[in-house]
Amino acid sequence: MELKVMCLLTLLELLFVEPGFGQRGDIDIIELMKDKLELIKKLDEKLKGVEGRQNDFEALEAKLNATVDEVTRQKAEVDKLKKENEGLQMRLNATDEEIDKLKQNSAKGGPQIAFSASLSNFGEIYKGPCTDKALIFKRVFSNTGNGYDPNTGIFTAPVNGLYFLSFSTYGYNTHVMGAILMKNGVSQISTYEYPSSDGSDSGSNAVVLQLAAGDKVYMELWDNGRVFDNMNGHTTFSGFLLFPV
Ligand SMILES: *[C@@H]1O[C@H](CO)[C@@H](O)[C@H](O)[C@H]1NC(C)=O
Ligand SMILES: *[C@@H]1O[C@H](CO)[C@@H](O)[C@H](O)[C@H]1NC(C)=O
Repeated sequence: MELKVMCLLTLLELLFVEPGFGQRGDIDIIELMKDKLELIKKLDEKLKGVEGRQNDFEALEAKLNATVDEVTRQKAEVDKLKKENEGLQMRLNATDEEIDKLKQNSAKGGPQIAFSASLSNFGEIYKGPCTDKALIFKRVFSNTGNGYDPNTGIFTAPVNGLYFLSFSTYGYNTHVMGAILMKNGVSQISTYEYPSSDGSDSGSNAVVLQLAAGDKVYMELWDNGRVFDNMNGHTTFSGFLLFPV
C-alpha cells in the first residue's frame, strides 16, 4: 500500500514540474490531489495500526484460550483431588471408629481387680458361734484394686462386672461348720456341715456374680456356726473380676 502511494506521489511530482502544466490552470486540482493522497497515506497508516492491534487481540485471545484451558485442566485436577480426599476421609473415619472401639475394649480389659485372704493372720482362730457373724479374713494374699477391706471382711465391687468368687471353710464338729456368701445382705451360696462325730470337715463353693460398682459381698457364719483357721489357711475367701459389663 505504501509503495502504491509513493508511486502515485512521484507521478504527480513529475506532472507538477512538467513545463507548461501550471499554466493550463490545473494547479488547484493538483494541490487537491496531493491533499487527497496525503489523506490516503494517513488512512493507510491508521489501517496498519488497526491491523496491528487486530494481531495483538488475536494473540491476547490465544493467551486467554490457553488460560481457560489451563483453568479447566486445573479444575479437573482439583475435582479429582476432592474425590480422593473424600475417599481418604471415609477411610480415616472408619479407622477412627475402629480405634475408638479398640480403646473401649482395652478400657474394658483395663480394671485389674483380684483379692484373696484367709481368716487367720496369727495363731489359731475359732470363730463362732456369735451374734456378729461376719467373717473377717485377716491374712491378705493379694488385693489388686483394693476392693477387699481386711478390717471389715467386705469386698466392694470397684466397677460393674462379672466377678468370680470362691471360699473355703474348715472346722471341727462341735458346731455347724460352714459359711454363707452374702451380697448386699442377701445370701447367695454356702457351705454347710452338720455337727457329727468324724472330727473335722471342710467345704468350698464358688459362684460368678454380676455386681454393680459399690455392691458388697462378704462371708457370714450360720447361726450356731463355727469355723477354724490357722496359718495353714483352711478358711479362705477369694474373688476377681472376670470382665466389666
Ligand atoms: C479461542 O477459543 C474460541 C472458542 O473455543 C475459538 O473459537 C477461537 O478460535 C480461539 N482463538 C484462538 C486465537 O485460538
Ligand atoms: C467423617 O467424619 C466427620 C466428623 O465426624 C464428618 O463430618 C464427615 O462427614 C465424615 N466423612 C465421611 C466421608 O464420612
